Order: sequence, then C-alpha cells, then structure tokens
Amino acid sequence: MQFCLGHPTEGYYMKRDVFGQKGDFITSPEISQTFGELIAVWFMHEWKSKGISCPVRIIELGPGRGTLLSDMLRTMLSIEGMADCLATIHMVENSRVMREMQKGVLQASAAAQNVQLEWHHDLEEIDPDRNVYTMLVAHEFFDAMPIHMLEKSEDGIREIMVDLIRPDQPKEGEAADAELTPHPGAFSFRFAKSPPNTPLAVLLSQSSARYAALPNGSRMEVSPQVSAVAQAVGKLIGEPNKGAALIVDYGDDHVFDSSLRAFRNHKHVDLFEIPGECDLTANVDFAAIREAVEGKAHVHGPLTQRDFLMCMGLTQRLDALLKTTQTNEEKLTLARAAQRLVNSTGMGGEYKFMAVTTGEEVPYPFVARERVENKEGEMQ
Ligand SMILES: C[S@@+](CC[C@H](N)C(=O)[O-])C[C@H]1O[C@@H](n2cnc3c(N)ncnc32)[C@H](O)[C@@H]1O
Repeated sequence: MQFCLGHPTEGYYMKRDVFGQKGDFITSPEISQTFGELIAVWFMHEWKSKGISCPVRIIELGPGRGTLLSDMLRTMLSIEGMADCLATIHMVENSRVMREMQKGVLQASAAAQNVQLEWHHDLEEIDPDRNVYTMLVAHEFFDAMPIHMLEKSEDGIREIMVDLIRPDQPKEGEAADAELTPHPGAFSFRFAKSPPNTPLAVLLSQSSARYAALPNGSRMEVSPQVSAVAQAVGKLIGEPNKGAALIVDYGDDHVFDSSLRAFRNHKHVDLFEIPGECDLTANVDFAAIREAVEGKAHVHGPLTQRDFLMCMGLTQRLDALLKTTQTNEEKLTLARAAQRLVNSTGMGGEYKFMAVTTGEEVPYPFVARERVENKEGEMQ
C-alpha cells in the first residue's frame, strides 16, 4: 500500500492531480467551501477560548490541492487578531506534484500576510515548540496510511500477505525458478496467508488490548503508521506545548476487518488493478488514534461529520452564501454541495471528526466520553 501510493516516481500521488471530476475521487473541501470555513471557525473559537496566544502556526497533514487550507486561511484572517499572530503554515506532503499545486494556491495570500510556507515529508520534522500555538488539521490523511491485515485462527495469528503470481509459475512438482523476469505486465497478485505467529503478526496483534477480545476467525486491519502519526500529533499538542488538532476521515471508533479498497475514475475497482494507478484506502480506526494520543494530549470524539458541521453553523453559513449568489442555478449548486457534506447515509455519517487538545476541557461541539458511554448503555 505504501509503495502503491507513495513510491517516489511510480506512486499514485506522485504523478498527477488525482482529485475532482477528471481524477479518481472528490473530497469535502473540493465539494463546498463551507467545509474549510467551519473548520476554521472551530479553530478560532478554540484559540480565543484559551485566551489568544501568539504566535500561531497551522499544520496540515496531506493538503492535497490546498483547497482546505485556502478556505481556512481566508476565514481565519478575517478574524480579529489572527493576521498579527499567524506566522507559519507547515504542510506535510510527500508528493512533488501536490506541493506545486499547494504553492500555487497559497503563495499569494500567504505572502500578502507575511506568513511563511514550509513543506515537510514527516510530521516528526516539525519541532514541538512550547512558545507557538499549533492548529493541526488532517483530512483524509490517515486513510492513506498503510495497514496490515491479520487473521485470528485456532493455531494463532496469521498475516494476510500479497503474493505474486508469475505467468510461468511452476505447477506442483516442477522446479521453481528463483529469478523473476523483469516484465511487470506479466505478473498478477493474490492474497496469501503467512504461517501462524510470525514475530510481526504477534507484535501487531498485541498492539491493542481490544484485539484480544476478538473471536477466532476475525480479521483486523492494523496500522502502526496511523498510531505513529497520532502519537506525533499528541506530542505536538500536549503539554508543555499548546494547541488543538482536528482529525477528519472515514472510519469509526473500532477496528475494521476488511475495508481496504481501490478507486479509479470514481469507481470501486479490484485491489490489484494497475498498482500505482488507483487510490488505495482503508477506514480509520479512531479508537487506535485515541490509544496513541492518550497520555500525551486530550482526545474528544469521534463525532459524525453531520453533527460537527451542523453544530458549527452550516445552515447559517449556507444562508449567508445564498444571499450573495445571483442565479437560481448557482444557489441550487451551493445548497446541493452543502447537503452532500451532511447527508446521513453518505458523507455526513461515514466521515468522523476527532479533536485533540492540550487541556482536558471538552471543546464545543464534542461531548464528554462518559456521557456518550452512558447514553449507549441506556439504549442497550
Ligand atoms: C486524499 S488526499 C487528501 C487531500 C486534502 N486533505 C483534502 O481534503 O482535499 C491525501 C493527501 O495526503 C498526501 N499523502 C498521502 N500519503 C502521504 C504520506 N505518507 N506522507 C505525506 N503525504 C501523504 C497525498 O499526496 C495527498 O495530498
């Protein structure tokens, strides 16, 4: 998964713009400007409620076309005090093509406000700095992190691996030729199970106490990379540093068994179809993010995208936009786009928001975890 998405020359994100009608998928900021605007309002409210500390930096993990940052920046700079405090925007981005697009979208407005733009390959490259207030956003970043697939069986834990099928694969009883012909078109792939209890499979299966409770026959998608990045987020936001983070992605508050999938031209395609030409993605286990952050910073949620955006004032923002829009056709397009973000059976329910904060006070519109657990208990 890592190579297919991130190989320096052949990786999916390295070659072209993959977003929008001509690409393979569309993300919330590309659908409606209200998405980035309301996220910006959340950060501004959080920052102001903690007493406005200066200087401020924004970090985005995987900024894509830069649309989310651009909408956030426009909104934030319209808030009193922010223009004087915002010093730097850090972008964690490993694709050169995407970096160029981000520069094109952000350079002029950043330069006009004397805001510095910086790119990094890894979040660990950004210094924790107790003198700077950090606002970190990750939208559709964690779902691109590689996963391991594990299966629990009677005889132990097996990893589901990707196996190469050679066109000249020897039939049973024939001698195997160790040399592979360098002819990529001639190979295909399939899943194969590792022997039970390889050291890596055992280690991964012990990385959360939640996995021990799963019955034999269960599969689970485990991502050490998701945990490593989440730990780095916790370190940047937790004391003695200060700030807030929003992690937004599709997924839920539990481990998934088989959510890994591939997209090409807006269609769901076979996982092994043209590696490097398809988007590979897996649902995010938000409970794993919580486990990685806890002890370093405070974690809130997840909330559904619908709940977050509606509580942050999507209806009111849409009304304001509609008032300044001329034609009925434009009004309809705006309203449909906003509706798409919060549709309960689509993006509004599938995408979740999780917040990370320095202090334990629960930020609006998140709800204290004990209250969620009590409510779930009452409903059972
Ligand atoms: C699905 S896009 C999300 C884009 C954007 N956040 C949005 O909402 O439109 C994923 C982004 O993360 C970047 N990316 C994926 N894996 C990465 C990695 N391991 N390190 C840094 N950037 C990565 C991609 O190049 C792309 O910009």
